[in-house]
Amino acid sequence: MALLKLENVHVSLEDGTEIVKGVDLEVDTNEVHAIMGPNGSGKSTLSNAIMGHPAYVITEGKILLDGDDVTEMGADERAQRGLFLAFQYPHAIPGVTVTSFLRAAINAVRKARNGGVENPIAIPEFRKELLAQMDRLKVSRELASRYLNDGFSGGEKKRVEILQMAMLKPRMAVLDETDSGLDIDALRVVAGGVKELIGPEMGALVITHYQRILDYITPDHVHVFVDGRIVKSGGADLAKELEADGYDPFIPATAGAEA
Ligand SMILES: Nc1ncnc2c1ncn2[C@@H]1O[C@H](COP(=O)(O)OP(=O)(O)O)[C@@H](O)[C@H]1O
Ligand SMILES: [Mg+2]
Repeated sequence: MALLKLENVHVSLEDGTEIVKGVDLEVDTNEVHAIMGPNGSGKSTLSNAIMGHPAYVITEGKILLDGDDVTEMGADERAQRGLFLAFQYPHAIPGVTVTSFLRAAINAVRKARNGGVENPIAIPEFRKELLAQMDRLKVSRELASRYLNDGFSGGEKKRVEILQMAMLKPRMAVLDETDSGLDIDALRVVAGGVKELIGPEMGALVITHYQRILDYITPDHVHVFVDGRIVKSGGADLAKELEADGYDPFIPATAGAEA
C-alpha cells in the first residue's frame, strides 16, 4: 500500500462548484510524482483537499495515508501523520516569529507522536538544527527573528516553507508551485533542499505549471492534469513533451480545433 493514496477524489468549493473530478493517485516514499497542468485546472484545489483545508469539500472518494482513511480528518491531524503542504501563497502571521512558529509546529508533531503528552524539543537541540538547516537552505539568519512571511519576498517565503519542511521532516510533501516567483539561484537551493529529503523517509508530490523545477527534481512519474482530472500519466519524458507542446493537445476543445 502506497503512503499516499487517492481513490476517485472529487473536490468542490463551498458553493458546490466541482473543481476536482475524480483523481486516482498513489505516491510512495522514495518517489517523486509531478502533477502538471494549466492555470485554473484545479491543482491548488487538489493540494488543499489533500491537506484537509476546510474550504475544499471532498464530495466523493477517499484519501488514504499509510492505509488509514484520513478523508474526514482535519489538517492538524494529517500533519501529525506526516503530511506536509508547501502553499502556493503562504500566509503571513504577524506577531509570530519564524523561530517560534517552527518550534510550535515541531512540538505539536512531537506531542501527537507521544500519545498526546507534551514532549518539547530541547532548545539547544532545536537551535542547532535550525541554524544548520538555515545555512543549508541559504535562509538569512535575520529572517528567523522576523514575523512569519510578514513582508517577505516571494523567494524568502518559499525558502522558509522548505525550511519548515526540513525541520518537520514529513513523510509526504506536497509542493504547490514552489517554483513560482523564484529566480534560478533560489530555485536551485529550494529544489536541492527538497531533493535531499526525498528517500526512504519521504516522498513528494510536486505540483507545477512549468517544468522548470523538474530540471532540478527529476520526477519518477508525471501526471497531466486538465479540468480537474489526470488525463495522462508517464515518466519524466512527459514533462519535456509538455514543455515543447504545451497543454493544448490535452485540452479537448483546442485539440478538436487543431485536428
Ligand atoms: N477558495 C476559492 N474560492 C473560490 N474559487 C476558488 C477557490 N479556490 C479555487 N477556486 C477556483 O477553482 C478553480 C481552480 O483553481 P485552482 O485550484 O487554484 O487551480 P490551479 O492551481 O490549477 O491554478 C478556479 O476557477 C478558481 O478560481
Ligand atoms: Mg495553483
